[in-house]
Amino acid sequence: MALLEARDIVKTYPGVRALDHVDFTLERAQIHALVGMNGAGKSTLVKVIAGAEKPDHGSIFLDGQLVHLSHARDATQYGIVVVHQERTLIRHLTVAENILLGIEPSQLGIINSQLLRQRARELLENLGIGDLDIDADVEKLGAGKQQLVDIARALRTSPKVIVLDEPTASLSAAETEHLFDTLRRFKERGVGIIFVSHHLDEVFEIADHITILRDGKVVSSGPISAYRPEDVPRLIVGHEIAATTSDYVDATGRPVLLEVRNLSGEGFYDVSLKVYAGEVVGLAGVVGAGRTELLESLVGYRDVRSGTTLVRGEPKRIRTPEQAIRNGLILVPEKRMEKGLMMRLDVLENLTVVCLPDCSPGGIVSESGLRRAASNVVKRLGIVTPSLRTNVGNLSGGNKQKVVFGKWLAVSEDVQGKVFLLDEPTEGIDVGARAEMWNIIRGLAAQGAGVVVATSDLEELMVLADRIYIMRAGRVVCSGRRPDFTQETVLQHMLGAAEAAIAEPRL
Ligand SMILES: Nc1ncnc2c1ncn2[C@@H]1O[C@H](COP(=O)(O)OP(=O)(O)OP(=O)(O)O)[C@@H](O)[C@H]1O
Ligand SMILES: [Mg+2]
Repeated sequence: MALLEARDIVKTYPGVRALDHVDFTLERAQIHALVGMNGAGKSTLVKVIAGAEKPDHGSIFLDGQLVHLSHARDATQYGIVVVHQERTLIRHLTVAENILLGIEPSQLGIINSQLLRQRARELLENLGIGDLDIDADVEKLGAGKQQLVDIARALRTSPKVIVLDEPTASLSAAETEHLFDTLRRFKERGVGIIFVSHHLDEVFEIADHITILRDGKVVSSGPISAYRPEDVPRLIVGHEIAATTSDYVDATGRPVLLEVRNLSGEGFYDVSLKVYAGEVVGLAGVVGAGRTELLESLVGYRDVRSGTTLVRGEPKRIRTPEQAIRNGLILVPEKRMEKGLMMRLDVLENLTVVCLPDCSPGGIVSESGLRRAASNVVKRLGIVTPSLRTNVGNLSGGNKQKVVFGKWLAVSEDVQGKVFLLDEPTEGIDVGARAEMWNIIRGLAAQGAGVVVATSDLEELMVLADRIYIMRAGRVVCSGRRPDFTQETVLQHMLGAAEAAIAEPRL
C-alpha cells in the first residue's frame, strides 16, 4: 500500500487548468522528484497535498485511507509537512520564534523563552545547521538562511510525508548537501519525501523516483534509474533544446560603462572591477561571498563605506535606486518576489511600471503602447499567464521571476550604454526558458549594454561571461577572461582551494 496517493486530481484556475487528471504515488522511504516547466503545475499539486488548495476533483489517500484536506492544519495533523516555494516566515520574529511558531513552550499562557531558544537550538543542531543564530531577526537573514529556517520549521515534528517545493533555490552547495543528508536520514526512517526542483543534477543525486509534469499532466513517471539525465530536459519541455554556447567577446577596447575602485561596504571589501560596453561580466562566488551586497550597493540599496564608482567615466555617488536608474544602472535583484513585484497588480502593470515614461509619448499614457510593450515581453520570455490582466500573485514562481526580469526588457528598447546587474537571473527558471534567458542576456550585451551576472551556476557562468571576477569572503580573489578558466578552476577559486593548492610545496 502506498504511503500517499493523489488520484485523478483536477484543479482549474480562471483561464488555466493547473492540474489535469493527475495521478501521483509516493511510497514509504522514497524521495520522489517532481519536475516540470514553470507553470506546469508542480506547486499546485504540492498545495493540494498540503491542504492549502482544494482540488475541483480527485482524492488523496494516506496509507490507503481517503483523507479530506480542506485546510493546511489537516495535512499537518496527518503528518504531512510542507516547505512552500515562497517563504512563509514572520518578519520581526527571531529565528527561534519562527521555528517554533504555534508550538511555543509556555506556562499559563506565558512563553518560556529560555526553553524556546533551547529547543530551537537542538533542532538546528540535529539538522546540521547549529551555526545559525537563533536570536537573529529573520528579516535580516540572507535568502539561504531564511530558507533553512523555513525548512527547520517544517521538520520540527516527526513527519510521515515531507514536501519541499524548490528548497535549494537559495542554498549554498554546502547547505544543500546538509539538507540532503537530513533528507536521507528521514528516508531511512521510512518517511516519504516529495522534492520539487529545476536542478536536474540534484534530482539525479537524491531522488529514487521521478514524475514529470507538463501543462498540468503527468507525461512520464518511474524509478530514476530508468532515466538518462540527458533525456529528461526533452521530456520536461516537450521538444529538443538546442545546446547554448556563446563566443567570447573581447570588449576591453570599448568604453568603460561602470568602474568601481576599492569599493568597500558591509559584506564586501576593496572591490575593483570594470564593465565595458558590449560584454557580460560574470561574478562568481559561493552564497555569502558578498556579490549580492556589492550589487545592491551599486544601485543605492546599501551604503558604500569607501571607494569610488565611475559611471561612463564620471565619478558618481549613488544613494538611491532612483538615482541608479537615472544613471542607467539597473538591478534585477535576487529576492525577486519581495523586491521586484507588486503582488496586487497585474502582469501588464508590473511589466510597464518602469517603461511608463517611455511608453507615454508627450506624457500621455497610451494603453495600447503599454500593452504592446508588455505582450512583447511576455512572448520573448515565454511568460505563462492567462492574460495581461492576471494578478502577478497568481503566476507560478518561475513566471513571477520572468516578470521581474521582463519589466527591464520592456523599458530597454534602447539598452546601449546601460548597465544591467543581474543577481542569479535564472534561479527558479525551467531548463527551456533558461536557454532563452541566456540568449536575451547575450543580446543585451550585443546591443551595447554592459551586463554583470552574479551566478552560482557554473554552467551559466561559462556560457554567459566574457570576463569573470571570482569573489570569496567579500573580496575579489581572482579575475580574468573566460577562455582562461574552466568550471573546475572557477570552483577552486570560489572555495579557496586554488590558493591552498599553490601554497602546497611541490615535490
Ligand atoms: N492562485 C492562482 N490563481 C490563478 N492561477 C494560478 C494560481 N496558482 C497557480 N496558477 C496557475 O496555475 C498554473 C500552474 O502553476 P504552478 O504554480 O503549479 O506551477 P509550477 O509548476 O509550480 O511552476 P514554477 O516552476 O514556475 O514554480 C500556472 O499557469 C499558474 O499561473
Ligand atoms: Mg512552483
